[in-house]
Amino acid sequence: MTRTSFPENFLWGAATAAYQIEGSPLADGAGASIWQRFSHDPRLMAAPGDTGDVACDHYNRMESDVALMKELGLQAYRFSVGWGRVLPDGTGRVNDKGLDFYKRLVDELLRNDIEPLLTLHHWDLPVALDDRGGWLNRDSADWFADYARVMYRALDGRVKKWVTLNEPWVITDGGYLHGALAPGHRNMFEAPIASHNLMRAHGRAVQAYRAEGAHEIGLVVNIEPKYPASQSADDLAATARAHAYMNRQYLDPALKGSYPAELKDIFGEAWPEWPEADLKDIYQPVDFIGINYYTRAVVRDDPNQWPLRASPVKQIATHTTTDWEVYPPAMTDMLVWFRDTFGNIPLYITENGAAFYDPPVAGPDGIDDPLRCDYFRTHIAAIGDAIDQGVDVRGYMAWSLLDNLEWSLGYSKRFGIVHVDYQTQTRTPKRSARYYSQIIATNGGILG
Ligand code: BGC
Repeated sequence: MTRTSFPENFLWGAATAAYQIEGSPLADGAGASIWQRFSHDPRLMAAPGDTGDVACDHYNRMESDVALMKELGLQAYRFSVGWGRVLPDGTGRVNDKGLDFYKRLVDELLRNDIEPLLTLHHWDLPVALDDRGGWLNRDSADWFADYARVMYRALDGRVKKWVTLNEPWVITDGGYLHGALAPGHRNMFEAPIASHNLMRAHGRAVQAYRAEGAHEIGLVVNIEPKYPASQSADDLAATARAHAYMNRQYLDPALKGSYPAELKDIFGEAWPEWPEADLKDIYQPVDFIGINYYTRAVVRDDPNQWPLRASPVKQIATHTTTDWEVYPPAMTDMLVWFRDTFGNIPLYITENGAAFYDPPVAGPDGIDDPLRCDYFRTHIAAIGDAIDQGVDVRGYMAWSLLDNLEWSLGYSKRFGIVHVDYQTQTRTPKRSARYYSQIIATNGGILG
């Protein structure tokens, strides 16, 4: 890499999500979410006993957390709103105290010159709606648009970047197909329905934004580039299936107005013929796409693997503690692929980061996390390479600001650039936080 800096106005920030950091999930009249229910069921959690009851106690420490962001030099902060804090029943009555928390957060960010990126939904569906079928109910698209409208009316004057959904693929693959995430279903017939309703919800929320919002709205997806294990026809076909399932299932309908043909092949009779009108609803112009990138997969054909008939082939390489291969070149490949496939839509990297084993105590220079520093250095450089090839990347949000509840894996996986002692709630910036501050201060120039 030869560049010395990133584009002017490139936005450097960090990201979190409501249920992972806030704690106090039922405070001030909030309605419970499916993550509240899931995390309290030890049969469902991979880390039984870990819940979001306290998490990082951000709900009570919001002001000092924003001060920490300021100290680190963050220019932006991506957070999500707990739907049930604002609408305890999912629809209808607004809970002013819950809404007030996000108003205060946004005010505090703006006072500190930190741009808010607001995600409307990062997986914590109100249980009141799950009890009515959740994302399996066609009405969910309107429930979501109504909730989105409440948020636009309250905050569009101050929030200029809105995200509808975070990673619909993870919601359906984890929540409806394999059961590893809330609401914990395992049903091949449900997964396509949940996916489709999530995309209808996205489309309706964008339409509602166009009617009354004044700024920008987009969708956040996770992309995991797929590389064939060999050039055999079977491995190439398996790779195309895996790519369509994980990377194109949501982008194609949102940006092209159709689903990849491979989905019919993967789901068979469980993949319905969708009404044309639904696809029109989904296919709404967006102002940007947010991409969460963590790793890649090398894929081989595997007839025994349901329903994809494809398996990952583990590589000899550094892996994170979530067992994800560290492979920065895929970041560049993925961004170039996106531009070549969907056009030069403005992009933000809305999540990127890694869980590694950190030393349990701070040394003289804080908590030393060289692998995480290296992960940021190489992945941000890989973004620079894509920008050099003309891809319109406008910002980068490190995942995550704080160590937090890694969903069903609980507190054992630490993604933070800031260490959290869960006994005392002490925050200690890791070396990676200091390094990231320098990246920001030099607009990427420190990468050389
Ligand atoms: C999610 C985050 C999660 C991270 C690491 C993404 O899938 O949006 O909530 O903590 O990856 O697994």
